[in-house]
Amino acid sequence: MNTDKIRQEIRGLRDGKLFFNNAGSSLMPNIVVDSMIDYFHQEEQFGGYEVANRNAELLENFYAETARLIHSKPSNIAFMTSATEAFAKALSSIIFIEGDVIITTIDDYISNQITFISLQKRLNVKIIRLKKLDNNELDFEELENLIKEHQPKLVAVTHIPTNSGLIQDVESVGKICRQYDVLYLADCCQSVGQMVVDVEKIGCDFLTATGRKFMRGPRGSGFLYVSDRVLEQDYAPVLLDMRGAHWSEFDNYELFKTAKRFEHWEVSYAAVLGMMEAVKYANNIGLEQIENYNKNLAETLRTNLSESGFKVLDIGKNLSSIVTFCGPDNDLENIQNVLRDNNVFFSASYKHSALIDFTDKKVDGAVRLSPHYFNTLEEIERVSEILSKSLI
Ligand SMILES: Cc1ncc(COP(=O)(O)O)c(C=O)c1O
Repeated sequence: MNTDKIRQEIRGLRDGKLFFNNAGSSLMPNIVVDSMIDYFHQEEQFGGYEVANRNAELLENFYAETARLIHSKPSNIAFMTSATEAFAKALSSIIFIEGDVIITTIDDYISNQITFISLQKRLNVKIIRLKKLDNNELDFEELENLIKEHQPKLVAVTHIPTNSGLIQDVESVGKICRQYDVLYLADCCQSVGQMVVDVEKIGCDFLTATGRKFMRGPRGSGFLYVSDRVLEQDYAPVLLDMRGAHWSEFDNYELFKTAKRFEHWEVSYAAVLGMMEAVKYANNIGLEQIENYNKNLAETLRTNLSESGFKVLDIGKNLSSIVTFCGPDNDLENIQNVLRDNNVFFSASYKHSALIDFTDKKVDGAVRLSPHYFNTLEEIERVSEILSKSLI
């Protein structure tokens, strides 16, 4: 991996900032931005329909590149405007009735939890959150017992929570779901782009992801993976449009065969193109390389922060490129001021966004630094030094 070349391909880095907010919204490679601008210029000249026709083959590459990213087939991929849209469309294809059980984890994303609670309020669906072991790993024995006892309609697990460095073992969850033939959704919003994500190994029915984070795509992009199993059983979003089905009779339609049935007809084709370029960019570097490189950056940062006296809040066997911490006295404000004053890009989140996790950790929130493969070890040392001086 040629970090110098990668950095030269990011106009956003030219002003010397320290950019560590890849879990929020990353810096796009130049090719992503340039391809979108060029596409807009074409639309300006010829109108969107003509340009979509002229670029049909190129736009179709989005499906092939995304399939390559997660080891699936193009027919299992749908373009989405966000991970949340992907999640909502996937859930809307499942017919929940009163008393159905959803098994999830305490670390699942805030919006996923709110969706489950909404289903609970409207349909009396029951939410069970899987317990964790003392080492912060999911309790798979308990998962198996819960599945046997409740026959859940869905198991949903967030691969990497937004407010914690934890990597949840979605592959082991998948093995159990396949064994008991349970629908399984993996929220890989924070993992795609930062590490290897392989749907064959995860064994999920739905996988949701966004473009703007570690994938380095544009805002308003994302994707949904839908398994063959689910497609063959005619799962489709409850509010389908003509992208999903052929209107065959006055009162009937025929579902299209591929995961595109989860899309809506109208999308920003410039965003599809930008996302395709972003995925291609990551594929060409190689996700294994990216994962190994990121691991080293994040581990070094965690070690430096702990040694300086910060409370590093990431607990688990496998940790990701999301580094969360607070001051020794749980301070968040002073840390943020110091980072802002030194041109460091980061994010912070407060209790409501990880209500159970932050309550368990007895903190009001966390500052989040999320390095990525365009960052250097030297930058990690610089931000560590800036922070350590703030404690003196
Ligand atoms: C784990 C996780 N899932 C889902 C989402 C939602 O993604 P989007 O905002 O693209 O809908 C996020 C966003 O931060 C996330 O971190």
